[in-house]
Amino acid sequence: MARNSWILRVLASLVVAASAAPSASAIPAAVRAGYHVIHSYPNLTPPDSLFDLTKQGLVSGIILFGENVDSSNIANTKAVVKRFQSAWAASPYYDGTPLLILTDQEGGQVVRLPGGPVKSAKQIGQSSTPKAAAQTAGQDAAQACKAAGVNGNLAPVNGVYRKAGDFLDRYQRSFGNTSVLVTQCAPTFAKAQQAQGVVATAKHFPGLGAAGTNENTDANPVTINLSLDTLRTVDEVPFGNSIAAGVDMVMPSWAIYPALDAKYPAGLSTKWIQDELRGRLGFSGVTVSDAIEAGALSHGGFGANDGDRGVLATVAGMDLILGSGRNATQGKAIVQALVNGLASGKIDSAAFDAATSRIKALRQKLTF
Ligand SMILES: *[C@@H]1O[C@H](CO)[C@@H](O)[C@H](O)[C@H]1NC(C)=O
Ligand SMILES: *[C@@H]1O[C@H](CO)[C@@H](O)[C@H](O)[C@H]1NC(C)=O
Ligand SMILES: *[C@@H]1O[C@H](CO)[C@@H](O)[C@H](O)[C@H]1NC(C)=O
Repeated sequence: MARNSWILRVLASLVVAASAAPSASAIPAAVRAGYHVIHSYPNLTPPDSLFDLTKQGLVSGIILFGENVDSSNIANTKAVVKRFQSAWAASPYYDGTPLLILTDQEGGQVVRLPGGPVKSAKQIGQSSTPKAAAQTAGQDAAQACKAAGVNGNLAPVNGVYRKAGDFLDRYQRSFGNTSVLVTQCAPTFAKAQQAQGVVATAKHFPGLGAAGTNENTDANPVTINLSLDTLRTVDEVPFGNSIAAGVDMVMPSWAIYPALDAKYPAGLSTKWIQDELRGRLGFSGVTVSDAIEAGALSHGGFGANDGDRGVLATVAGMDLILGSGRNATQGKAIVQALVNGLASGKIDSAAFDAATSRIKALRQKLTF
């Protein structure tokens, strides 16, 4: 009896899915491109235009920053997220999967939402039981995300810092200065968080641990001049272990690593994304970019605007493009650039659809 009703429910949902989801050929190019773009907006109240874009099917997700969050009453933020999910559910292109709602809830000083993790990554690494502390932190991050309707966290940092005060150490964002310590913590955090239904992200591949204090890709181009041997035996080790632990997303870094690619930052590099991350480390999940408006790209001569850079990243193998400029028209411009890139053949259509499938598979796992 229970089994029969289960089968009936599955059949019923298949019928609903078949009638609700338009066939691939009926999907406009902009909706096809929309699956690849995360949007953002300024201040507490999103503009109506962003709900309209969501209803038009041009939004795969939203990233929330501190200015978007009502810390005194997180239910207000959750209600805003619900409005986005409802706008998408009212779209003719609605596919039954939730939008991805992202934020950076790393812990310590780097949190956008009220709640945990209270300890910074560094404090977790320095505790007497780092693995247990990382597990608690992952659970706490999930709770903070859930209270806001956030279903994806752009954490944890997998970088292995080198010197006190380095870019990652400055705000205590690295679990430690050895790959052994970071490997105890980062995959554990990710797994604990994902067990509670919140997507985790190993960032920033292949690691920003050797970046000095002021080497910030958000502001300027950064070159990390480590040998391939060091990158593979130190920096990539936590990423490999996070992948083995089943981390859902990986965020490639905007730094340039000449050991493998002297021209392109890792996130614009086929060598880094296809050969190293997917090939050597066997990652088959979703790649998500760091801020597409980052100074590392805009001052680095990689195209005239965020749309150009979104196309470059997509061509290199980036699945999701993060428009985090808190500018509600930025995402739309990136969507249009992807549409143009597909039309001109600059973006390979089959590779793009394979990326869409990965994004949809991830969103299918979301329960809120
Ligand atoms: C890591 O930091 C500890 C504590 O500051 C120090 O004793 C150790 O030598 C460092 N290890 C490496 C590999 O830098
Ligand atoms: C990077 O390392 C190589 C090999 O050690 C060296 O020749 C080169 O000058 C370094 N470049 C920078 C920018 O430090
Ligand atoms: C918002 O983004 C659009 C598209 O990238 C750009 O043209 C515009 O200048 C941006 N506005 C602000 C205020 O940054």
